[in-house]
Amino acid sequence: MKKKYLLAPGPTPVPEHVSLEMALPMVHHRTPQFSQIFAEAAEDAKYLFQTKQDVLLLAATGTGGMEACVTNLFSPGDKVLVINGGKFGERWGKIAETYGLKVVWHKVEWGQAADPMDVKATLEKEKDVKAILTQASETSTAAAHPIEELSKLTRGRDDLLLIVDGITGVGVFDLPMDKWGIDGLITGSQKALELPPGLALVALSEKAWKFAGQSKCPRFYFDLKKERKNLADKTSAYTPAVSLVIGLRRVLKDLKEEGLENVFKRHNRLARATRAAVAALGLENIAPNAPADSCTGAFVPEGIDGGKLVKSIRDDFGVTLAGGQDQWKGKIIRIAHLGYVDTFDTIIAISALEMALRKFGHKVEFGKGVAAAQEILMEGY
Ligand SMILES: Cc1ncc(COP(=O)(O)O)c(C=O)c1O
Repeated sequence: MKKKYLLAPGPTPVPEHVSLEMALPMVHHRTPQFSQIFAEAAEDAKYLFQTKQDVLLLAATGTGGMEACVTNLFSPGDKVLVINGGKFGERWGKIAETYGLKVVWHKVEWGQAADPMDVKATLEKEKDVKAILTQASETSTAAAHPIEELSKLTRGRDDLLLIVDGITGVGVFDLPMDKWGIDGLITGSQKALELPPGLALVALSEKAWKFAGQSKCPRFYFDLKKERKNLADKTSAYTPAVSLVIGLRRVLKDLKEEGLENVFKRHNRLARATRAAVAALGLENIAPNAPADSCTGAFVPEGIDGGKLVKSIRDDFGVTLAGGQDQWKGKIIRIAHLGYVDTFDTIIAISALEMALRKFGHKVEFGKGVAAAQEILMEGY
């Protein structure tokens, strides 16, 4: 027997009571019973997004939400600035190029946050940019981009949007959509929302809805104006992800009860504990200047294959963490602390890392990482 633990940055564990609620007999989506659930979930999602705008629930993964923003807000030939500091920044640009947009690639070194002054300089050079597309948390590098600072570049300008992939940011750290003037905010169900994959949540500002009125990109399934109209009737254009919406309603009630501020504190405590642990183990943080509270990345010691290490932690120790992609393939490990993750999940992850490092011949003083984490985790008790 081997007990399994899921500590990757998505999908994340689903709380038992949420799984049970989603396992209840299927209901038809065009019924007053489901409409009530759908409307409640969408209403409570406004609390999560910190917005008065509608939050649209799409049957898609997070990438679908990103694509919906591109196809509903822009037209072929429009110029967008893409902050590309990792795999997901790159994805923004690929989606935009697929629909014929002109992409101004604003490259950011992996593991670093975008510098708002550099972004401002790019905007000044490239006059007719319609939007900045960015991640809040670039999960592939475990770095957070400074959304509040970036929002100062777009707020108050009618001709420029800030579209934020908050897929590992929303419900992890503060991203007050209305207060900061974020024009498009996206998340996915399988991250901080503690649900299985399959639901994308998207909200647009008034300014973005004006762009949506002009957009000429081809689209069919992801038609946000149509979804907004349907939401007013407590339904969706096509069959919604019924079970996930039922789960979403439950999770949002739980998050509301906990309070967003406490939710952010919870993530921050686990994040700081994990950072302290990897440092105590002598590992170098991959995003030292701008670590996101969603997951922590560390370079594996010289001579160890990170891919094999992650595989061993999963197959030998039962703990699923994440490795690296592209230039960091085989070089890093990432430990998630978002969603339904608590003190002892974090301790398990760190403890498994210590044991696996020893298995791979690295000199590890057992308990050193765990103890460093415990010092911080104690703040919660
Ligand atoms: C920051 C970020 N953006 C986009 C995605 C893609 O989301 P999905 O796999 O749900 O399509 C992910 C998934 O890990 C992510 O972390």
